[in-house]
Amino acid sequence: MRKPFVAGNWKMNTDSNSSVELAERIASESADVAGRDVTVAVCPPFIYLQAVAKALSASSVGVGAQDIYYESKGAFTGEISASMLKDVGCTYCLCGHSERRHIIGETDDLVNKKVAAGIGGGLLPILCVGELRAEREASQTNEVVTRHLKKGLAGLSAEKVSVVTIAYEPVWAIGTGLTATPQQAQEVHDFIRKLLAEMYDGQLAEEIRILYGGSVKPDNAADLMGQRDIDGLLVGGASLKADDFLAIIQVAV
Ligand code: PGA
Repeated sequence: MRKPFVAGNWKMNTDSNSSVELAERIASESADVAGRDVTVAVCPPFIYLQAVAKALSASSVGVGAQDIYYESKGAFTGEISASMLKDVGCTYCLCGHSERRHIIGETDDLVNKKVAAGIGGGLLPILCVGELRAEREASQTNEVVTRHLKKGLAGLSAEKVSVVTIAYEPVWAIGTGLTATPQQAQEVHDFIRKLLAEMYDGQLAEEIRILYGGSVKPDNAADLMGQRDIDGLLVGGASLKADDFLAIIQVAV
C-alpha cells in the first residue's frame, strides 16, 4: 500500500525566524501521525534549509529542497548540489516545478539531469509535471504529462525511478484558487500510473506515489485524497499557515 505523502512547498516565503517557527509547529502538532501514517515534508528556501532541518531533526518531518543543480561541485555560480543538500539534512528535492519551468525557463532535459543527480546523490526527487491552461483547453493534457514524464525520467532504470515521487500540478490551478476537480485530477493520475506501467512495470506503477498539487486547502483535501490514484498532496500557499497545513496532514492520514 502507498503511504500518503503531504509536502509543503514554501516557495520564496518565510524568513529565518518564521521558517523555524513554522517547522517547529508542524513537527510538534503532527507528531502523532508523521512518519508512521503519513509521510510529511517541508521545502523551505535554500537559505533556511539548514535551520529548518535542525529544528526538525528530532521529528519525523522530512526536509526537501525546492530545486537542485545536477553537477556535483565547481564553477556553477549560485547553484546547489545534491551533496550540499544532503549535508544540511535534506531528504527530498523538487525537480521541474512549473514555476521553474515557466518562469525560470527550465527545459525537460535540464529537469532530467536534476532528477538523475538527485537520485545519484541519495535524495528522493519529487518530479513535478502538469499542463498550462491553454494546453488543457486544447486537450493536450495527456500529451504534456507524457512528455514531462518520459523526458524527465529518460535514461533512468526502474530501480532508480522507484525512489521518485511524481507530483501532478496543473499549472492553471497553482496559486490561482482554481483546483482541478477530484475527477479531473484522478483522470490524470490514472493516466500517469498507466503510463508508468508501460514505461517500467506494473509493480513500480502500483508502488510509486503520485501527489496532486494546485490550490490544495483544508476544505478540498479530503475529496482529492478520496481518489484512488491520488496518494498525497503538494501544498503551496496553504503550507505557510500551520493550521491549514496541519489540517491537510490529518485529512491525508
Ligand atoms: P499552491 O501551490 O498550493 O499555492 O497552488 C502548489 C505548488 O506550486 O506546489
